[in-house]
Amino acid sequence: MSLRSLTYTSLAGLDLDSDDLLAIHTAARQLNALDGITGLLIHNGTHFLQIIEGPDDAIGDLVERLRRDPRHTGFEVRDDREVEERSFAGWTMELARVRSRYFEAREDLMEVLPPDLPAPVHDRVLRMTELISGTVDLG
Ligand SMILES: Cc1cc2nc3c(=O)[nH]c(=O)nc-3n(C[C@H](O)[C@H](O)[C@H](O)COP(=O)(O)O)c2cc1C
Repeated sequence: MSLRSLTYTSLAGLDLDSDDLLAIHTAARQLNALDGITGLLIHNGTHFLQIIEGPDDAIGDLVERLRRDPRHTGFEVRDDREVEERSFAGWTMELARVRSRYFEAREDLMEVLPPDLPAPVHDRVLRMTELISGTVDLG
């Protein structure tokens, strides 16, 4: 069975609050458990970066649903590849809330990423987090 890993970024809806985030996370875990999808959802207060991995057709279906979801906009696929095995096997969807500045977001992520995450995946997640990180220091 071919496994696919897809990473996208999006802009969270302006009115999205903690309860909404919790609802997204809870539903994602339930649905992903049924669909055989695992992954990581990073939120930095304004943007999402999500890695979803699973059977090719299940990922395709989820992408369609995510594109239609009004709780975020600017959905942009950043990486889409076939993989030999899962990188986030135990996680039906882990939510990592990180700070908005890149170096702080990196620190936050290092604490939650699985210790056995292959180095190339680890580096890619950190690199991609830059895509959603604020570069301007607003104090
Ligand atoms: C940032 C974000 C991440 C999401 N992650 C997932 C996910 O991992 N799995 C999932 O099934 N739905 C996820 N959803 C919810 C889907 O967009 C969609 O609402 C859900 O799959 C149900 O689809 P339906 O409303 O078309 O039935 C996410 C939504 C958002 C805004």
